Amino acid sequence: MNRASSMAVPAFDVEAVRRDFPILQQTINGKPLVYLDNAATTQKPNQVIDAISHFYRHDNANVHRGAHTLSDRATMAFEGARVTTQKFINAPSPEQVIWTRGCTEAINLVAQCFAAARFEPGDEILVSGMAHHSNIVPWQMAAQRTGAKVIPIPVTEHSELDMRAYRQLLGPRTRLVAVEHVSNSMGTIHPIEDIIALAHGAGAQVLIDGAQAVAHWPVDVEALGADFYTFSGHKLFGPTGIGVLYGKREWLESMPPYQGGGEMIETVSFEGTVYNRLPYKYEAGTPDIAGAIGLAAAIDYLGGLDREAAARHEAALLEHALALAADFPGFKLVGRAEHKTCVLSFLLEGTHPADVGTLLDQQGVAVRTGHHCTQPIMDSLAIPGTVRASFSIYNTHNEVEQLFSALHKAQTFL
Ligand code: ALA
Repeated sequence: MNRASSMAVPAFDVEAVRRDFPILQQTINGKPLVYLDNAATTQKPNQVIDAISHFYRHDNANVHRGAHTLSDRATMAFEGARVTTQKFINAPSPEQVIWTRGCTEAINLVAQCFAAARFEPGDEILVSGMAHHSNIVPWQMAAQRTGAKVIPIPVTEHSELDMRAYRQLLGPRTRLVAVEHVSNSMGTIHPIEDIIALAHGAGAQVLIDGAQAVAHWPVDVEALGADFYTFSGHKLFGPTGIGVLYGKREWLESMPPYQGGGEMIETVSFEGTVYNRLPYKYEAGTPDIAGAIGLAAAIDYLGGLDREAAARHEAALLEHALALAADFPGFKLVGRAEHKTCVLSFLLEGTHPADVGTLLDQQGVAVRTGHHCTQPIMDSLAIPGTVRASFSIYNTHNEVEQLFSALHKAQTFL
């Protein structure tokens, strides 16, 4: 092998990836679909669609309780999905993978069962100043019940968490730090290793919202050491309606249950109820069996790709977009962090984000506009919201160019 070939970086076959995603092969308003709303939800490959369809066509039954073959098959697939997910995030055991409806429900579970059950008046919960509403409101609700306070960690002009301010905010009253791994509206990748270490040094626990991270690089919850890590299936090429709460065993064992019902109990009598063991203690009612199976199929799909090459591809798309943005008249980039995922949040001078979004849609380009469920950071920037183009593994450089030529056209109308 010569030096050049031994150093060669394997190419990422984006066209092969695109063939796995049937929804991408369509036109919208007479133009080929350019799907750039991946931070809101990702599209699903055939492998995920087929896994869900196969389950309903062949194996559908309720899990755990049935004395029949279909129930056994459904249970095997459902619990197998939990093990797949455990390995995906390197959780120490499958019992520490709790199924939820999504990342939002996972955070609410911790807010209710951990914060609202333990915190006292004057306790402090530090949250990211650019957090998604789902990582603010559940803590406000827990604070209302307990008298604790929710305190935002300030954001720098580069859309990064102000680590100096964070250090100063940490104190003896800090009970919990809740931060997103990646900002959904700015794309900022936070230094969560430092955030976790500093919080633990102050005696506080940490929840990391990983919704915008897990699709982009492997996450190892054990190495990170966060007390809780949450994410959704649908931002990971899996179905909607399924999400994951990972928690350290000591907290999951000691927290009260989230909801009451079937499955979360060991025994029930009118004198009292004994709760089930982990993970079922937090999984009242019939779970989203097909959702868990679909999520596992998405994880297997990702596992079949060269994830480093996929990450390089996404980084190259962002670089390309930033280069085109630099020469684009009136383009105001929002979210200037040094470390960020492939999220391009921006404003076009003299236009409203919603109008830009509509004109892009007319040209087949799907973006998201508005505050992206991060109103506090938009308010602090004194903007109504942004246009957000978010890229994924199946987007192409040609699509980046189409975004900017559609923006040029939109600008002539506005
Ligand atoms: N949280 C999702 C987004 O950022 C919906 O668009």
